[in-house]
Parts: sequence; structure tokens; C-alpha cells
Amino acid sequence: MDYRAQLAARVAEIAPFHVMEVQTAARALEAQGRSIVHMEIGEPDFPTPAPVIAAAQAAIASGNIYYTSALGLPELRAAIARHYADHYGASVSADRVIVTAGSSAALLLVMALLVDRDESILLADPGYPCTRQFVRVLEGMPRAIPVGPESNYQLTAQLVERHWSPTTRGVLIASPSNPTGTEVPAQEMQRIAATVAARGGRFIVDEIYLGLTYQGEPRSALALADDAFVISSFSKYFNMTGWRLGWIVAPERHVRDLEKLAQNLYISPPTPSQLAALACFTPATHDIVEQRRRAFRERRDFLVPALRELGFRIPVTPTGGFFVYADCSAFAEDSATFCRDVLDGAGVAITPGIDFGVHRASAHVRLSYTVGMEKLQEGIHRLRRFLDR
Ligand SMILES: Cc1ncc(COP(=O)(O)O)c(C=O)c1O
Repeated sequence: MDYRAQLAARVAEIAPFHVMEVQTAARALEAQGRSIVHMEIGEPDFPTPAPVIAAAQAAIASGNIYYTSALGLPELRAAIARHYADHYGASVSADRVIVTAGSSAALLLVMALLVDRDESILLADPGYPCTRQFVRVLEGMPRAIPVGPESNYQLTAQLVERHWSPTTRGVLIASPSNPTGTEVPAQEMQRIAATVAARGGRFIVDEIYLGLTYQGEPRSALALADDAFVISSFSKYFNMTGWRLGWIVAPERHVRDLEKLAQNLYISPPTPSQLAALACFTPATHDIVEQRRRAFRERRDFLVPALRELGFRIPVTPTGGFFVYADCSAFAEDSATFCRDVLDGAGVAITPGIDFGVHRASAHVRLSYTVGMEKLQEGIHRLRRFLDR
């Protein structure tokens, strides 16, 4: 008997994360002695800030590593709330902050709160792939709406209006976005929130890259749409991917139900990580992560024009995150084959568009600037030699 017949049908529909497969192929080449420039990876190359490590070491040495409340440590919830007032232009009560096991768990909790079987959530294509899978695991319907440069690769109120159906429960946007690094302008954010509210739906904003913006002051969607569910994380801005810590800012009336879900799904977010993360909100850590943000901006300022000069089309300059979503149709018809050829021929690992949806996916690749400037320069040099052949 095929072992798949013994599994839930939903498993067959969950797509693999192709970037991990690119990474495996790249590592196999490295094991054979090849040098590879890694521009496929979606996590900062910077180590966890030293004050965070010191706080973790002290916490672990104390031995007091017990479950916390499913909502997270009260001091951490308060510190996150203050961070919104200090840096993101929004006033948020600590009672609305729910600390989670990464923003991955935050997305899962919010989807579990809102989505019943066959109900749909509107999302952008291209977009971060796991969000679609979370909706699917819950037997909901992710409705991926094709977006392009004309709307900054983001949903608009008009698109939401056009695609809303009787089964739609809400809209999720990620601003800045993975893979495009583009943002939803403030006015459009307000229009989307109003459009969703007028239809009795829920608005979810993934702000995991909000700390890493390079144009103007970062502003949370909460400053514009207080009733939104906002999701964020320590992974990217605070360089803490492996610590698995994120959060939700939820409308107060939903906190109790999210708490029940978190209690049942994973009891509490990781305690050593929470104790460590308290050190994120100190002046010392702030200086470190802000310096790194400036380094990311310098990398972007080098990479985007260099790619354009090689013949990649980048119609909208990314303003956040650490990704460039580039049209490679001048070089190849199928970006997945192109990525394999670039890895084999140039020793540069990049991610095919297929990871982020289906809309013009075979014409696009994602390049990450999560490597230092020297490696980025080497990557461009290798790409130039490869494309000139
Ligand atoms: C847009 C977006 N949302 C959520 C996540 C999940 O991150 P984490 O679970 O580490 O917070 C990622 C990770 O790459 C992402 O790019």
C-alpha cells in the first residue's frame, strides 16, 4: 500500500520550500570543493547581538527555565509595546502583545483564529510561501492575487474589492514584502483596512521586515489601522532567526482566544529566548542593529544598480528587507533552470520565483543581500562572467 494513502490529503498539497533545495545543492557543491556565493538565504548573516547572548547566558546559568504564560513574559510584552511607541509611531497596550514561537507561530495562530474550512484569505502573488501553506493546513483557501510593478508588487484596495467573495475572511499583506522588498504606502494601507472593515473581514499585516526599511521612518500599520492583527519577529531586525521568537499585536478582544490556541499548540514560547530578547530593547543593542540596518542599505545600494547593469529588470526599487526580486527573462525562459545553471556555471546560489507563487514566477529570481559587500561584489563579478559567455 502506498504510504501516502495513510496520510491526510492536505499533506500532498503542501509545496516544498525550493530555496532549501537550492541551499542543499549549493552545499553539495561546496562539499566537492567549489566556492559558492550564497545569495539564496533569507536570514541576516550578522550574529546575534552580544548583549542578547550575554542575557541568554545569564538566564540559562540561573537555571530558571520554566514555561512562561502562553502570552509570553509580561516584561517582554511591555518592552515590545514600548518599542511601537518609541520607533513605529503607534501606541499599543502591552495587553495586546502576544509573544510567539517565531512569526511563523504568530501566522499560524492568527489563521487558526480566523479561518474555517473552505474560507479564504487574500494574499499577494508573489508572496512569502509559508503563509499560503498555513491557510491550507487549516483547510482554508489561500487566494493568491497576481500583483506586479504597477502596484509595488503589493495588494491594493481596488484589488481587494475586486477579489472579495462571500467566502473571504480577510486579507494578509507583508510590508516590506518577501520576496520583493517593497512596501504598501500609508494611504493605500488605510484604504485596504477600510475596504476590509466595510466587508466585515479581518486585516493581517506581516511586519517582520519593518525594522529593516531604508526610506523614511518605519511606521507600523497599527498607526493607521488600530484594529489590524500585526505580526512581527525577532528573527530579522534583531538577527535572531534561530531563537524562534516573534509576536502578534492583536485587537484586545481576541487576546484570550489566541492565548487558548497558543496554550494548546505549544504551551509557551521558548523561555531562554524570551529572557535573552529583553536585551533587544537596550541602547547597546539598538546601536548594533541600527548599524547593521545601515550596512543592509549600503548593500542594497550596490546590488540593485549592479543587477540592472547586467540586464536584470527591477522595475520597483526595494525599500526594505534584504531581497531583490529581479526579472531574468532577458537571460532564460525558465527561472528554475536559470538558477540551476547560475549555481553550476557561476557558483552563485539564487532562488527561483516559483517559491513565491505562480504569477510570472518563471521570469523571476530572488537575490538576497545577506552576505557582506565583498561577497556581493564577487557574486556580481561571477554573474557578469557567466552572462557574457
Ligand atoms: C514575510 C515573512 N514572514 C514570516 C517569516 C517567518 O519568520 P520567523 O518565523 O523566523 O519569524 C518570514 C521568514 O523568512 C518571512 O519572510
